[in-house]
Amino acid sequence: MLHSAIVNVMIKAVHRAGRSLKRDLGEVEQLQVSVKGPGNFVTAADRRAEEIVREELGKARPDYGFLGEEGGARAGTDKTHRFIVDPLDGTTNFLHGIPHFAVSIALERGGAIVAGVTYNPANDELFVAERGKGAFLNNQRIRVAARRRLGDAIVGCGLPHYGRGDLRLSRYEIAAAQRNFAGLRRYGSATLDLAWVAAGRLDAYWERDLSPWDMAAGILLVREAGGYASDLEGGEAIFAKAQIAAGNETMHRELIRLLREAGKEAAAPTAIAEAE
Ligand code: IPD
Ligand code: CA
Ligand code: CA
Repeated sequence: MLHSAIVNVMIKAVHRAGRSLKRDLGEVEQLQVSVKGPGNFVTAADRRAEEIVREELGKARPDYGFLGEEGGARAGTDKTHRFIVDPLDGTTNFLHGIPHFAVSIALERGGAIVAGVTYNPANDELFVAERGKGAFLNNQRIRVAARRRLGDAIVGCGLPHYGRGDLRLSRYEIAAAQRNFAGLRRYGSATLDLAWVAAGRLDAYWERDLSPWDMAAGILLVREAGGYASDLEGGEAIFAKAQIAAGNETMHRELIRLLREAGKEAAAPTAIAEAE
């Protein structure tokens, strides 16, 4: 697959940052058994990965804007282009030595995502999408799953933490998913969840309370793989509402319907009495 010059730069950046994270994962595994734990080391590894990405992208496109989870936003002199970067998505997995995390870079042009690259260094899986050119895993074209029966579907999700997010609503949503799908998964990396929908591994996925860097590359991966990605009402306000639902046409539509019904159930007074 021939990528555009800027996508090759993005790939080089995720590979370099990924190599650094993979080295650091070895150290994290050692630190599990220490009393202090790997917390501070992981924070440093995360920052180091973002620095590498900033440096690589900055060398090639110094004028583009940059939004990174760790270092925040930097406006570029070029106002139409912006990189959106999560240097380590799946931090909790990384912290525990679980090899499921990724470096993710998206490129926005005039507010639309035109390229997305997500790399899991632990298993060397590279997901690449460019607008109008399809989605790829390690240079092989990927497509969303063709399944149409909810009873056959494996669906990914995120779970809110106590004190952050709506726990009661999430209980109702999960119960609806349990009643309708073959299985539910919580893998802990939003960008890989979306990449896995694009690759047909997950049939659908939804999550709330996400940031643009968690979703930007994955949105394009899913769409370029023939799938749908939207906010939880089926609209375009993914970043504004900080939420996402993704899947093939049927799974995406049915997931949104189930979540809407679960929302109504959660809001009903009888349901509240039962749940609390
Ligand atoms: C997190 C992961 C996780 C999702 C969280 C995100 P981080 O990103 O994507 O799957 O459930 O809400 O914040 O903190 O590991 O970069
Ligand atoms: Ca993230
Ligand atoms: Ca992160």
